Amino acid sequence: ATRDTWAAVDRYLAETLVGHDPALEAALAAQERAELRPIEVAPVAGKLLHLLVRISRARRVLEIGTLAGYSAIWMARALPEGGRLISIEAEPDNAALARRNIDAAEVGDRVQILEGRAADVLPTLDASEPFDLVFIDADKESNTVYLDWAARLAPVGAVIVVDNVVRDGRVADLGDEDAQIAGVRAGLEMLRDDPRFDATALQTVGVKGWDGLAIAVRV
Ligand code: DHB
Ligand code: MG
Repeated sequence: ATRDTWAAVDRYLAETLVGHDPALEAALAAQERAELRPIEVAPVAGKLLHLLVRISRARRVLEIGTLAGYSAIWMARALPEGGRLISIEAEPDNAALARRNIDAAEVGDRVQILEGRAADVLPTLDASEPFDLVFIDADKESNTVYLDWAARLAPVGAVIVVDNVVRDGRVADLGDEDAQIAGVRAGLEMLRDDPRFDATALQTVGVKGWDGLAIAVRV
């Protein structure tokens, strides 16, 4: 199998099980017009995040790394009445674009975007309002910082998802000392060693190439 066949199968699966959605596709079109890199989650992964919110019956979701709001729209749509998604975005232009995309998708009332570097914003969150699901998808160098905050802000039983844990296989090349790869590896080691987590990770192939997701429960 090659990258082309992975992508073809991914498109087939998305056509078959995810379908088309005008608001999500408009958000991606706006992201492309703004010339952001197409590093949002794949449609099948957006749907996975949506399903994880539903399966866990999450009422409060925290996202670290909004980009243009694509995954936020997927997760916000899974929230029950009165549910809330807080998404943190460091880049002001991205935050403004995400706000427009999320409002256009008609989930604006349940989504709050907090602009700033997550390492600065996370300490300002009210720990008395815990999160049932946390999606970490920002600068990979900071994954351990974000996992620590996820553990602090999430009660036992909460779901934690970390994007981009394989990076074309580079994670397993221990000679690769790139700072992002080192951050990914440190995050996985934290998921192994920190008693607040129990975790696994899965490789993914498809329209976004070869990457993966870690999924953990707060214990
Ligand atoms: C990059 C970041 C992501 O979150 C992603 O899903 C893919 C790529 C990146 O920074 O290259
Ligand atoms: Mg990502």
